[in-house]
Amino acid sequence: MSRPYRLLVKNAKQLVLICKSSEKFLTKEGIQNLCVIENGSIVIGSDGLIKAVGPAETIKSQYAEALFDKVIDATGMCVLPGLVDAHTHPVWAGDRVHEFAMKLAGATYMDVHRAGGGIHFTVEHTRAATASDLLASLRSRLVRMQRAGTTLVECKSGYGLELQTELKMLEVIEEVRRSLPINISSTYCGAHAVPKGKTVAEATEDILQVQLPRLKEKLSAGTLRVDNIDVFCEQGVFDLSSTRSILQAGKQMGLNINFHGDELHPMNSAQLGAELGALAISHLEEVTDEGIAAMAKAKTAAVLLPTTAYILRLPQPRARDMLDAGVIVALGSDFNPNAYCCSMPIVMHLACVNMRMSMPEALAAATINAAYALGRSHTHGSLEVNKHGDLLLLNATRWEHLIYQLGGHQEIIRYVVIKGNVV
Ligand code: NIG
Ligand code: FE
Repeated sequence: MSRPYRLLVKNAKQLVLICKSSEKFLTKEGIQNLCVIENGSIVIGSDGLIKAVGPAETIKSQYAEALFDKVIDATGMCVLPGLVDAHTHPVWAGDRVHEFAMKLAGATYMDVHRAGGGIHFTVEHTRAATASDLLASLRSRLVRMQRAGTTLVECKSGYGLELQTELKMLEVIEEVRRSLPINISSTYCGAHAVPKGKTVAEATEDILQVQLPRLKEKLSAGTLRVDNIDVFCEQGVFDLSSTRSILQAGKQMGLNINFHGDELHPMNSAQLGAELGALAISHLEEVTDEGIAAMAKAKTAAVLLPTTAYILRLPQPRARDMLDAGVIVALGSDFNPNAYCCSMPIVMHLACVNMRMSMPEALAAATINAAYALGRSHTHGSLEVNKHGDLLLLNATRWEHLIYQLGGHQEIIRYVVIKGNVV
């Protein structure tokens, strides 16, 4: 018979809570006081939720070890909240290693895209792939992310650009949501590119008149769950006005607005997102000062993607300006065939070195703020009573090792725990 509590993690050298209870995100000031308990323990109940967290002595006096299914002695280890990856494109067939060589030789992202490669290449292969092949590769990618410490991940569609394949991708995401422990936030991204042979107006019409209505039926029938709507708002992709109509239509269906903006050109995407009440905007390499101010005011999170700027040699996103202006800064791996990175510890490292974030800022961005960007910070992103028991145990006596050590997370992450289960 199972016992009243699922897991006790005791005597951790450091227990990094991230924030005080009831904070749903952290801006620069809050991050300066990251909450860390020296020598702490944490209790996870049989429902997978955190029941208590505090100094080891206090927890010891309140909870007998016999009450637990499992006890982990974390002496000499650090405990952190599970990492949250706020932006990925993990469902696709056909890698693009050949394009990496082209880009190293000087081709830009848009050179490759206009030549029919990039997203178009992946669309062709993803349309042709079976759902079971897509499922198998998605599973192995998510397991790899999980091993690198990610316990909640956003997953986009967007390599179909027509109803059938977009639904195939969303259904595959739904399947892993039901069968893998990792938590998923799913995003309809039918406006990821303008399909070959169509104009922006035709593509927008197809999304508004064909794809979204069908998606709405599936959501109402309860056969599919989708959390967010995304558009790639960019010159030569979706302009501001088509982006606005698609995002508004998604919002009316109850989806959270979370889209790609101001990546390669300043598009006023940030201002549009703030006006529409977007939960998050990703990329923002080319955001303006006005865009930053609008996002801070609207509490629209900025999801920064250090791997993209690194691989495409773009200007770095202005993380410091955003933090100084009070923007909620989150991080994502942007895992996709262009940026093949499953590891949030590497993303945090790049954010610190290239975008000049501090380690506490990077950690908050990869936990509570990424959860906020996905509308999940009331249940995920920090070690607080009643939140999910999702955590990492590090083979290190200071939590900063997770960021300081570049790569090799298999050595440093000793356990990944999701809802109180070691995965
Ligand atoms: O976030 N910028 C648009 N979308 C992706 C790249 C997708 C791809 O190249 O396949 C991104 O970087
Ligand atoms: Fe992306």
